[in-house]
Amino acid sequence: MDTLSALAEARLVPVVVLDDAADAGALGDALVAGGLPVAEVTFRTAAAPDAIRLLADRGDILVGAGTVLTAAQVDQAVAAGASYVVSPGTSRAVVERCHEHGILALPGAVTATEIQAALELGLTTVKFFPAGTSGGAPAIAALAAPFVGVQFVPTGGVGPTNLHEYLALPSVAAVGGSWMVPRDRIRARDVAGITELTAAAVALAARPA
Ligand code: 3PG
Repeated sequence: MDTLSALAEARLVPVVVLDDAADAGALGDALVAGGLPVAEVTFRTAAAPDAIRLLADRGDILVGAGTVLTAAQVDQAVAAGASYVVSPGTSRAVVERCHEHGILALPGAVTATEIQAALELGLTTVKFFPAGTSGGAPAIAALAAPFVGVQFVPTGGVGPTNLHEYLALPSVAAVGGSWMVPRDRIRARDVAGITELTAAAVALAARPA
């Protein structure tokens, strides 16, 4: 299965901020126990490359890098074992470096112009960020009309009360968010707490039978 299909199957992408790479083991255990073996480890902290390596080396988690702003960070992420790269906006340099490495790029785009720019870079899936303040699910539905075939990963302001609005749209591949992996709980290595939040998110995101 390719990376995008695997993310679409999971339907949820936990957006992680790790202050210390040594916390990655507890985080990984909690995500797996909660039934969501996926992590987007953000380059907002210096711990990101080491944390990506620790999570990727386990072999049971689909690990990507988030908040990737430069081509150099793409290189670092790939060297650490990331299999996808997420950015808040669309950078030609970042996307082209992802393509050179042959890995999935998910750059942010929330306007028709930004989506066209992403299409020109050869992409068909974008992160819709920040989703909540960019019109939410109605905005994605409106943009999906002209951009037939484009898939969105809304992130930013997504949580238990509104994820169903996004996941109900055929153009939404998955939703991202940090609610199931609170930074303070990662720092506390609260495996039970993160497992519970993750399992609850998985239950909410499950496709209707
Ligand atoms: C991101 O980088 O994708 C966001 O910070 C996650 O947004 P959230 O904290 O509102 O879930």
